[in-house]
Amino acid sequence: MRSTMNSDPLPSIANACARARQIVVVTGAGISAESGLSTFRGPRDALWEKYDPMQLATPEAFERDPELVTRWYDWRRREGLNARPNAGHVALAAIERIVMNRGARFTLLTQNVDRLHHRAGSRNVHELHGSIHVWRCTSTGRELEPPAHPFAEFPPRSPFDPRGLLRPAVVWFGEALSPSALDVARGAMETGDVFFSIGTSSVVFPAAGFVEHAIQRGGTTVELNPNETPISGRVTHSIREAAGAWLPRLASALA
Ligand SMILES: NC(=O)c1ccc[n+]([C@@H]2O[C@H](COP(=O)([O-])OP(=O)(O)OC[C@H]3O[C@@H](n4cnc5c(N)ncnc54)[C@H](O)[C@@H]3O)[C@@H](O)[C@H]2O)c1
Repeated sequence: MRSTMNSDPLPSIANACARARQIVVVTGAGISAESGLSTFRGPRDALWEKYDPMQLATPEAFERDPELVTRWYDWRRREGLNARPNAGHVALAAIERIVMNRGARFTLLTQNVDRLHHRAGSRNVHELHGSIHVWRCTSTGRELEPPAHPFAEFPPRSPFDPRGLLRPAVVWFGEALSPSALDVARGAMETGDVFFSIGTSSVVFPAAGFVEHAIQRGGTTVELNPNETPISGRVTHSIREAAGAWLPRLASALA
């Protein structure tokens, strides 16, 4: 039965979590919005309003204009370094500890590249789209974690090979996801009995497919998003709230 605007679904969700043997959570850019980081499909930062992020997150864009693409990613990297995990990230880390302490499993699959889940203390985090805090040499494939200050030149030259450039180790549209992250995700999707989709527009695959799969499997499915998405009408509970407001309530209910 889907929750209605009149009934508070929290007790029922907390009850399902307390009984679950494995909880699976997929997060998207929305969970970091309250940390001040822009989502892809929401209001844009004025600096970039003349660019479409969707047009910058592709191998073709990098080939066409590596300076623009690396400047944009370096700007986002430094925005991420200056941002702090918010109450939603912190509550998810607390929920993971509670679930693990009673011997159940907790798997966090994130589409975010900002590492805020790690910084909030989450342990079993899998970055489906890589990390903006790691950059890779286009020639050798070797990776490094750049210092906090901006790169000295754009596009940044690779220190590993004079023919190479550095690019962010994120998964662009049209590129393959990390096989190991996908393996974890697929395994968790087969065994999880409570599934949360938090702060994602649920239109980017494969993460959008995970929620479809969870709905088909018939476990408890929860969407947390202040706005309606294509899956809102099909999950067990669709909660139209900000992650940073609702997740601490769930953490308290489980503690
Ligand atoms: N912070 C990041 O790492 C970051 C930022 C922008 C985009 N991305 C990339 O975006 C792509 C996938 O899109 P997506 O679905 O993650 O993001 P998206 O931008 O498509 O959707 C964000 C969703 O979050 C919702 N939202 C906004 N504020 C919220 C809040 N406070 N609490 C809960 N939900 C909130 C919005 O209604 C929207 O549905 C991925 O490729 C991801 O790597 C990541």
